[in-house]
Amino acid sequence: MQLATGAPGARILGIGSSQPEHVVTNADLEQRVETSDEWIRSRVGIAERRIADEKTSLPDMASEAGRRALADAGVDPSQLDAVVVATCTMPNPIPNAAAQIATAVGANGVAAFDLNAACAGFCYALGVGSDMIRAGSTRHVLVIGAEKLSDWVDWDDRSTCIIFADAAGAAVLGPAASDDEVGVGPVSWGSAGDLSPTIRVLDETTNKLFQEGQSVFRWATTAIAPVALDALDRAGLTPADVDVLIPHQANLRIVEAIAKKLRLKGAREDMVVADDIVTSGNTSSASIPMALDHMRAAGRVRSGDVLLLVGFGAGLSYAGQVVVCP
Ligand code: UT7
Repeated sequence: MQLATGAPGARILGIGSSQPEHVVTNADLEQRVETSDEWIRSRVGIAERRIADEKTSLPDMASEAGRRALADAGVDPSQLDAVVVATCTMPNPIPNAAAQIATAVGANGVAAFDLNAACAGFCYALGVGSDMIRAGSTRHVLVIGAEKLSDWVDWDDRSTCIIFADAAGAAVLGPAASDDEVGVGPVSWGSAGDLSPTIRVLDETTNKLFQEGQSVFRWATTAIAPVALDALDRAGLTPADVDVLIPHQANLRIVEAIAKKLRLKGAREDMVVADDIVTSGNTSSASIPMALDHMRAAGRVRSGDVLLLVGFGAGLSYAGQVVVCP
């Protein structure tokens, strides 16, 4: 049996994201359900979010993000070997999103599959993609997190409709030439299936999302900082090495709780912490790569920065890793 020779590891070569144009403010939601701008800002941290129109599909947003990441990386689509799409909100499971997205970005024929780890999906896909490169089964992988949550939200349920939004974020992974060039650390991942009913689609006829907010909040604020610390440990780093923390943008209070726990373990006071939820809402698997893309565009993240990513959500599933900003 002959096996492929892999690379020492993977690195991120480029990133990109895509959001619908239509902005929905808290004031807009006040017209629909009994809520207030003050409640949403103080309990979740969201000021506005972007919602796709009926004509814009999940693969449309994902393909746009993918094309932007390829352009940013300077990688031609013909160089891609695989497209991995983290998503939990395709309108139905067949056909998958990844094959049509591969075709749309100009890489028809490559290996293409969807991965469902909900809001942890991008970090799962990054872990799978970088291990594929390390194993030698691929050289360049397009990893995308994409969600059209608006299709799955009950717009009359104030406990969910104020939170979720639509977007896609992408990264192009390529092989590192040497150990020094490796830019994606080992993944720390796991699940808590005993808590699976806490985030679920209610029933097959209505197809609407339900979330036991407080239970998930408690879990996220206790279980996720240790995952981030474990990802650092696996990469041979300490909290003081982290330039930028990018947790899944579920709730600004959860983000701040994770940052606080890392600072208690030695993270620097000047560590930059992602707050993209304020203007983007909770976009599940898209939130981490999109936050990175927005922060880099704003000059808050620079090439070479050490980024700590950690995703968590339905499943319940979680994953995190250290990456170096391209
Ligand atoms: O992304 C996947 C992972 N998901 C998460 O990590 C989400 C974790 N959970 C959360 O972020 C929060 O639990 C929520 C944002 C979902 C809810 O915030 P909360 O502070 O936990 O609120 P709550 O559910 O405990 O509700 C507090 C009160 C209730 O009223 P009473 O019973 O105290 O009178 C709710 O009925 O706030 C009420 N409420 C609202 N009021 C105004 C619930 N939703 C709203 C609303 N506007 N939109």
